[in-house]
Amino acid sequence: MSEVPILKIENLGHSYGRYMVIDDISLEVVSGDMTALIGPNGAGKTTFYNTVTGRFPPTRGRVHFNGQEITGLPAHKLVPMGLLRSFQITNIFPNLTVIENVLVPLVLHYRKGYSFLRALTGEKKLYRKAEEVLDKVGILKSAHRPASELAYGDKRLVEMAIVLARNPKLVMLDEPTAGMNPEETDRTIHLIKELADRFGTTFFLTEHDMKVVFAVATKIYVLHQGGLIAQGDPEKIRSDPKVREAYLGGSVND
Ligand SMILES: Nc1ncnc2c1ncn2[C@@H]1O[C@H](COP(=O)(O)OP(=O)(O)OP(=O)(O)O)[C@@H](O)[C@H]1O
Ligand SMILES: [Mg+2]
Repeated sequence: MSEVPILKIENLGHSYGRYMVIDDISLEVVSGDMTALIGPNGAGKTTFYNTVTGRFPPTRGRVHFNGQEITGLPAHKLVPMGLLRSFQITNIFPNLTVIENVLVPLVLHYRKGYSFLRALTGEKKLYRKAEEVLDKVGILKSAHRPASELAYGDKRLVEMAIVLARNPKLVMLDEPTAGMNPEETDRTIHLIKELADRFGTTFFLTEHDMKVVFAVATKIYVLHQGGLIAQGDPEKIRSDPKVREAYLGGSVND
């Protein structure tokens, strides 16, 4: 396991107008770790993700990915570098088939500018890649169904396949189980673990569901009202009084 962090955040802050939503966040993600950023609703998790992945440039602080400064770089620059994210809200094309949803971004990336449709149907290599990632996430059998027909949990798996098709070095997942039923949640937890174990994908996820976090994470950062209040392994976090207080009314049991 590499000791050099794949993602290094220094003193990151973002404000909406004069309201500092996240401030002075410093953290590291190491390849091979399963790192989670947790915090109650409104703690600033999505804002943190948006700030790291260039949706909003940070008001202050710096971001390094793989030893290179990426502060404020937009997503289209980060994706080829291997930093990908998913969104809290499902973000696929409902009228395309499942495999087309995976192929479109691949084709756009590799076959910029010529015969989009021919590339979409004829490019065997990309097609095989799309099938491979659909198989990895367990929805290859639905490859030719319109994405709109899929159950919610399977739509989120399509998103995961779209992300994996780009050969990410780091995948940032924003509440990967949000809106899922318990069965879908269990399946997703299992999938994330399997992708990490079998294929070596490094994940950095946000969650407010502590059950999910304790089931997958090896390293946890806790965000509360825009600032980090704790960090450590699951055992340390579980017994931290500040974390219990932040989640008062919620649950820190697994
Ligand atoms: N575009 C925006 N403009 C102004 N304030 C915003 C904006 N987006 C979020 N906020 C505020 O910033 C704070 C942090 O929101 P954020 O969505 O980052 O939290 P979160 O931890 O992701 O919450 P959740 O668990 O509900 O997803 C909240 O108080 C929210 O109301
Ligand atoms: Mg959020």
